[in-house]
Amino acid sequence: MNTQESFSLVIFGATGNLAQLKLIPALYDLVKANLLPEKMNIIGIGRKELSHEEFRKYSDMVLHQPNRHHQHPIEKEVADNLLSRMLYVSGDIAQKEVYDKLMNLLAKDKSCSNRMFYLATYPDLYPTVFNHLQTSGLNNQECGYVRVIVEKPIGSDLDSAKKLNKLLTSYYAEDQIFRLDHYLGRETLQNILTFRFGNNLFESLINKDNIDHIQVTASEDFGIGMRGGYYDSVGALKDVGQNHILQMIALTTMEAPKSLSNQDITDKRTKIIEELIPEKDRVVFGQYEGYLDEKDVVTNSSRETFFSFKTHINNKRFHGVPIYVRGGKFLKQTVTEVAIVFKNDVKHLFSHINGGGEANVLIYRIQPNEGIVLKFLSKFPGTDLKLQSEYMQYCYKHTATTLPDPYLRLLFDALRGDQTFFVDAEEVEAQWKFIDPLIAERKNLVSYQRGSWGPVEADEIIEKDGRKWLEPSVSFCSF
Ligand code: BG6
Repeated sequence: MNTQESFSLVIFGATGNLAQLKLIPALYDLVKANLLPEKMNIIGIGRKELSHEEFRKYSDMVLHQPNRHHQHPIEKEVADNLLSRMLYVSGDIAQKEVYDKLMNLLAKDKSCSNRMFYLATYPDLYPTVFNHLQTSGLNNQECGYVRVIVEKPIGSDLDSAKKLNKLLTSYYAEDQIFRLDHYLGRETLQNILTFRFGNNLFESLINKDNIDHIQVTASEDFGIGMRGGYYDSVGALKDVGQNHILQMIALTTMEAPKSLSNQDITDKRTKIIEELIPEKDRVVFGQYEGYLDEKDVVTNSSRETFFSFKTHINNKRFHGVPIYVRGGKFLKQTVTEVAIVFKNDVKHLFSHINGGGEANVLIYRIQPNEGIVLKFLSKFPGTDLKLQSEYMQYCYKHTATTLPDPYLRLLFDALRGDQTFFVDAEEVEAQWKFIDPLIAERKNLVSYQRGSWGPVEADEIIEKDGRKWLEPSVSFCSF
């Protein structure tokens, strides 16, 4: 990235939830880390009638409000630098006027400016925005390049994703399109690649001969908040299952890429997603009690806030290794992790002793208390043979650096044109091919208590096979 080039980042949906919680704070972090091009402005587009100055005040307020994703103090100098770059265009993004106003604003910048359009809006509006960008001439690359960032979910099923991809590729080359799933920008997910392929020791164990099964949990102890309109149109499986969870499975099980290039890494992720088999008779959908009273949820909505399913991978390496997944809102704990449970047939010598039958488990803790943890059996010190499970753990907390926010990483990658941790057309279609058959089973919805681990039917998904959900530890890396 040439830091001297002039650059405009245009955010559609600049006063919406995503911009508030993630984008504006990530832009602050980018300024703080000195990673934004010097001559870069940020143009917010939203329905609210605001002047440039009012948008700056609004953004300043956003930076100072409590935000669980962004908890560090705001330095005035950094905030001022960010706010001084901000401009605003108000209007309805379904109407041509907004694009004319935007064109005028951009034309004021006499230098040749690169443009990046970020769609932080409702996914249904994507085609409208792309069509307007094209017809208004804003996609023109005669003077600087144009890139677009599209947030997941890309489409709402395989057909609509294909249509959207077709539309996108009719206006842009694939290297201009950045399909964003922020989990790919998570340090803890990216480190799975280094952990697996940078260390011979563990990678040689990741196969059907050693692994009994894999569990993936993505649970949150809060509800949908003010996002009823969006959430009720998608439901939990499309909100996080089709994207974040499939990426966690992909990074855990993909083959080693030939190199660290974008294409090699993306191809391997796509390949493993294509090999995942949805088990249509092993899927459960739940809705938390009180969901129907949430703001902007349609009357008698049958949208799920919880899902659990079983899957497996159709390749030699993982033949017969089940993967159990659960995720949703208002569950017992906020925790995202992948647990690889190893076979324990070697424990026969100890299995008659209390705790002696426990399996080794390798855990990628994505959040909170991020780290990598290995559970193993140990002798309790003393004259008697007593056993206990112990943990070897690598905790990010114990290293000097703080974890960069995934949006900081991905915005920076988009600015420098690196697509390694973005999803391409083929990958997104592979994800829907897997998810669509499960969505087709969304007929029976079961209610669950807030603060529980979801409906009991989710326990049956795993217990039918004689296994149990692991209780995610609250003590890993917590000190
Ligand atoms: C988003 C979903 O993509 O991911 C949210 O739309 C979910 O519903 C969130 O809460 C989880 O992301 P994180 O980074 O908070 O784990």
